[in-house]
Amino acid sequence: MRYFFLAYAIVAVLVVGMLGFRGQHFSKPPIQVFPDMDNQDKLKAQSPSHFFADRQGSRQPVAGTQPLGFNEAGKKEIGGIPEYEFGGQTGYYYTGHVGDYFGTGMPDELGLDSEATATQLIKRGKERYGIYCSACHGETGNGLGITSHYGVPGIANLHLDPFNSASYPDGRMFDVITHGKGMMSGYGANIPVRDRWAIISYVRTLQAAKQAATAAK
Ligand code: HEC
Repeated sequence: MRYFFLAYAIVAVLVVGMLGFRGQHFSKPPIQVFPDMDNQDKLKAQSPSHFFADRQGSRQPVAGTQPLGFNEAGKKEIGGIPEYEFGGQTGYYYTGHVGDYFGTGMPDELGLDSEATATQLIKRGKERYGIYCSACHGETGNGLGITSHYGVPGIANLHLDPFNSASYPDGRMFDVITHGKGMMSGYGANIPVRDRWAIISYVRTLQAAKQAATAAK
């Protein structure tokens, strides 16, 4: 019985403590055990500010800011790259799809009419792969890039099935670069279409080199 009264008293104190002072106005600031972000210097949207010379709280975008997906009036390029490279187009070159399926092979739009142009594309791909992919997938494509040492899990080893086989079409890799997949985010907004194909051609080169080296053993 004693314990019952004790528990009853504790519950009563808790309930009154939590609910009893709701809605009451205090004249002094409350005691803040964990202030967190209760008090902060900030600007409220649409309200004036004495901090800025023009007395406006809301700021204009920095000159030259390029909103994603929009162009300056009359302009048809984004940072020197044609706008259409970043989406909204149809066809194999822009989507990796042929009808409902992924296509494979390098599209005609790349203009690969000689060994020299193909070599150029692969070289460009090597450079772009180094910038955009190797941090995760590794210089050789084995999935052991620098980020894998810092806990990015499950990075695909591009030398393993199915990625290195004919059953993994180029169009599918194009789609992965554009939209991402699972743990990998998409790079469609960063890598122009031609560079995506260049990267694919380089990944294919890495895979072929690895297969040749393994076969030679
Ligand atoms: C931030 C790390 C990161 C970067 C950068 C990155 N990837 Fe990935 N990638 C991953 C991870 C993680 C997976 C595994 C995704 C999953 O299955 O969840 C993956 C999967 C893939 C796959 C296999 C997708 C499938 O069908 O299962 C391909 C192909 C690929 N990446 C290509 C690339 C290429 C090409 C680039 C450069 C444009 C790139 N990745 C950049 C992390 C990355």
